[in-house]
Amino acid sequence: MQNFVFHNPTKLYFGKGQLSYLKKELTNYGPNILLVYGGGSIKRNGLYDQVINILNESKKNIFELSGVEPNPRVTTARKGIEICKEENIDFILAVGGGSTIDCTKAIAVGAESGEDIWDIVTKKSTATGALPFGTVLTLAATGSEMNAGSVITNWETKEKHGWGSPYTFPAFSILDPVFTKTVPKDQTIYGIVDIMSHALEHYFHHEENTLLQDRMVEGILQTMIETAPPLVKDLENEELRATVLYNGTMALNGMVNMGYNGDWATHNLEHAVSAVHDIPHGGGLAILFPNWMTYSIDENVARFKQLAIRVFHVETDGKSDKEIGLEGIQKLRAFWNSIGAPSTLGDYNISEDSIEEMADKTVIARPEFGNFKKLNRQDAIEIYKQSL
Ligand code: NZQ
Ligand code: ZN
Repeated sequence: MQNFVFHNPTKLYFGKGQLSYLKKELTNYGPNILLVYGGGSIKRNGLYDQVINILNESKKNIFELSGVEPNPRVTTARKGIEICKEENIDFILAVGGGSTIDCTKAIAVGAESGEDIWDIVTKKSTATGALPFGTVLTLAATGSEMNAGSVITNWETKEKHGWGSPYTFPAFSILDPVFTKTVPKDQTIYGIVDIMSHALEHYFHHEENTLLQDRMVEGILQTMIETAPPLVKDLENEELRATVLYNGTMALNGMVNMGYNGDWATHNLEHAVSAVHDIPHGGGLAILFPNWMTYSIDENVARFKQLAIRVFHVETDGKSDKEIGLEGIQKLRAFWNSIGAPSTLGDYNISEDSIEEMADKTVIARPEFGNFKKLNRQDAIEIYKQSL
């Protein structure tokens, strides 16, 4: 385990009815509020009206940016930045899923910067500050509600990049499982896969003596394996929604990966697929992750064996370590298939034709990627080919 400093400043309000704390939180900020949301799900499920009522009771001047896309666009963030600068926005409230929150992070930083936000996303410039912002989360998946990360897409150049800064932790996040009950089945499945993928990204590293971290990550995976099948059959089950919501935050708020860095190559491979084809992040991960695992197993067979035994309860009798590890990977694939996740690029009509283009995108930021196993453009091509 490496030395570490842990600091996560986001205040979390978790559970039914916790939206009532929004009014108190808003007293900390000035009158001009930018409300950011997506394509309208919050209007259909009544959350928009509840938030507007609280903003009105708090005597705030409300400005709105709606239509944040899944895989949020830099053009949309720029619109929000313009509103912030023109209207002297004091505080941004994101109400939605990871895309809405990620876009809000870009707006918050862009509003306080003289640089174009795309230059900050692509690390040509650095964030120097941000407007304060809070979130009301409506979809369990990304962990964006309690981390400093953001993922933004430039549709003109077909690039999708993750970035972050010390200024992009939400001031607070309100997580009520009731608001996630209307998430449709497909998005629920993508969220489940994303949460499990964050746990898996953490799991593959070469650091020694991470005994507690391993158990925490395995705990997230096991809890998801227990909770996901009944949830996809009973989407309105509040208890199952709450469990998945809590798992989603814990999987990527820094709590389980203190003292080491996970791999994250599969996220880079997926971001390249969705940059070119605009597919859902969790759908892409379901296709790619087991193939990255098979491709990378020789890097440290013991790690794959441990996962197979502890999380997927693979029988060990008469099998080599590698056979045990490979069986664990098959069980992961079978589990994701069983809940209805996609398993090939063909499921999104992605053919061999775009492999070269996607592989180019994986190495825009740097020629090699992945902390556990270093991959280059040719490795990306191999993994995409195995994913067809
Ligand atoms: O736009 P609306 O109308 O709100 O509908 C959304 C959207 O169509 C819908 N939805 C959300 N909450 C709902 C709901 N529908 C009904 N009821 C509700 N309560 O779900 C659709 C997908 O929403 P989106 O926000 O795109 O999903 P998600 O939270 O999975 O976010 C995906 C984005 O996050 C990035 C991904 O790459 C992708 O761009 N990621 C961000 C990370 C981070 N910031 O730490 C890490 C992740 O690994 C990931 O890369
Ligand atoms: Zn993810």
